[in-house]
Amino acid sequence: MNPPVDTNLINKIFEAKLSSTDFLRLSNFIYTEYGIKMPPAKKIMLQSRLQKRLRELNLTSYKQYIDFVFSKEGQHEIINMIDVVSTNKTDFFRESAHFDYLSSVFLPEFMRGGIRKTLKIWSAGCSSGEEPYTMAIVLAEYMLLNPLFDFFVYATDISTKVLQKAVTAVYAEDRVEIIPMSLKRKYLLRSKDKTKKSVRIVPQLRQKVMFNRVNFMDSNYSTPDNFDVIFCRNVLIYFDRETQEKVINKLCNYLKKGGFFFLGHSESITNMNVPLQQVKPTIFRRI
Ligand SMILES: C[S@@+](CC[C@H](N)C(=O)[O-])C[C@H]1O[C@@H](n2cnc3c(N)ncnc32)[C@H](O)[C@@H]1O
Repeated sequence: MNPPVDTNLINKIFEAKLSSTDFLRLSNFIYTEYGIKMPPAKKIMLQSRLQKRLRELNLTSYKQYIDFVFSKEGQHEIINMIDVVSTNKTDFFRESAHFDYLSSVFLPEFMRGGIRKTLKIWSAGCSSGEEPYTMAIVLAEYMLLNPLFDFFVYATDISTKVLQKAVTAVYAEDRVEIIPMSLKRKYLLRSKDKTKKSVRIVPQLRQKVMFNRVNFMDSNYSTPDNFDVIFCRNVLIYFDRETQEKVINKLCNYLKKGGFFFLGHSESITNMNVPLQQVKPTIFRRI
């Protein structure tokens, strides 16, 4: 049974306001630690996203919450705070031209020479897993055409909540509508419980994807290897230009020479000092 709802507490949280001082304390911290820019225009958004945390912690003011986050006892709350603060919008086959490019241009070139090769690809800022599993579907299809080919997908995010969802690999049916039926049949399992309108990625694909928590602001990223391809799409838009440039440079340290780097459709490297050469809009090669 669910615990009784404390309407008094809910009303107090509803009436509470995030003061400009407390907003600044938190937004400075989020920017310094996670790179996510929080201009004053985002105050109301931050306030409404944090309401849930206040409710769960039985707190009635944002000041109490922020004091708690910055206290010794509240260190673990930072993980929950970043879960509600980060924007995790994603989709299967999002910006599908990138996946077409992988299978029709990149992979034939990668496999030229006819020797056994394993592609190492990183979904950096993978959210709840739709992007790395789309990679895995596309690459598994290519494996069927070329038995010398194999792949490994590394997928990272700062938010533990989305990473948990990604590892579970269970998605509502409407989230997978975009996937062509022939691929759904091969790579998705229906829930045994027919009342549940959800599907799960097949184990053969799940085994190919390794998830990890990585903060782009860390000085070093813990990665198992250097990569042939890195996707860092729709992540850098939340950072300012200086941070974007630093993060791209750091990511390039883990990209092999000649490796490919993909950005989201509204992101660019114009006038940045980064070791990348444009191949197509949003597709780059490591110099
Ligand atoms: C909008 S999603 C993009 C997901 C996917 N790449 C796509 O294009 O569909 C952006 C992701 O970046 C993650 N992110 C934000 N700041 C980060 C940081 N400092 N380090 C690592 N990941 C971060 C967020 O948690 C979020 O899941």
